[in-house]
Amino acid sequence: MILGLETSCDDTCAAVIDGPRILSNVVSSQAAFHEHYGGVVPEVASRHHLELVNAVVAAALQEAGAELSAVDQIAVTQGPGLIGALLVGLSTAKALAAAHRKPLVPVDHLHGHVAANYLEPDPLEPPFLCLIASGGHTLLAGVRDQSGFEVLGQTLDDAAGEAFDKGARLLGLGYPGGPAIQSAAEDGDPDAFDFPVAMSERGLDFSFSGLKTALVYRVRELASGEVDRRRADLAASFQTAITRQLVAKLRRAARDGEWPAIALGGGVAANAELRVRTQALCGELGLRLKLVPISLCTDNAAMIASAARFSEAIPYPEYLDFDAFATGQAVRAA
Ligand code: KG4
Ligand code: ZN
Repeated sequence: MILGLETSCDDTCAAVIDGPRILSNVVSSQAAFHEHYGGVVPEVASRHHLELVNAVVAAALQEAGAELSAVDQIAVTQGPGLIGALLVGLSTAKALAAAHRKPLVPVDHLHGHVAANYLEPDPLEPPFLCLIASGGHTLLAGVRDQSGFEVLGQTLDDAAGEAFDKGARLLGLGYPGGPAIQSAAEDGDPDAFDFPVAMSERGLDFSFSGLKTALVYRVRELASGEVDRRRADLAASFQTAITRQLVAKLRRAARDGEWPAIALGGGVAANAELRVRTQALCGELGLRLKLVPISLCTDNAAMIASAARFSEAIPYPEYLDFDAFATGQAVRAA
């Protein structure tokens, strides 16, 4: 059994898995606190993690019917993410592991998103292409085995989820922006406004800042009553521009025939239009589409524990001086 902890952003998460089977997956969301500010406030996130983490770990163990002593390893997100938030999870995991002389497995958050695909129901075997699109990251991963992934492309500026969040704020739709834009878009015409689909012809990297600027100008051009009247059309057109770019890059990466399957991860993978477009792409190219449940797309600790199954476990006491990292690839020690 592996106990996983994840505190890289604004969700306090703990989970217990046994092989690919999830025994518990507890997420305490702080979204309601951050909603007031229109985004995650790092200092506030760290303080909430501190308040919540022990209770969340206890709940995960209880739901799994497991004692800490029966856990084989403790997995924790080491980065990337908000440094203060990460340190709460890492310190907690170190303390729990050290108290029981258990091994610790430091996990890269993005490897966690990829590893959500190795959990039940229906675990996916590499090779596959994985698009991870969240509030903090937009990344195209080529996955050849469970121990890691190759970055094939990534965003050069904003993350896709960040684009949704900023777009929603501009349209007065609240936070988090993705679900708000998606539901506003339901009554809108995706062809009403012509937003740019950045670099759809070049490389595998993404860019969303031009799209955000285009929305700023479009909103400015419209009279304020007009923005209210056209909000659904603006949301639908904006959402379509984001999902078209994401799927254009998937199409480009999938074209060389190396990848028999496509998987989606990260909070934006919950987006219905993205799911439908990716499904259509897979149908057209004859690829398998793997969609994990939405609870495994957004940040959670089961995915961190899942990545730990395929990562190096560090024996006690070698991990005691490990540090968290805010950006970049996983590094083991401080
Ligand atoms: O993976 P996640 O929970 O946390 C991060 O690691 O960032 O992703 C959160 C992001 C937010 O930007 C949120 O607006 C976006 O995922 N999101 C969505 C949807 N649900 C959440 N974006 C588009 N459509 C959705 N239905
Ligand atoms: Zn994430």
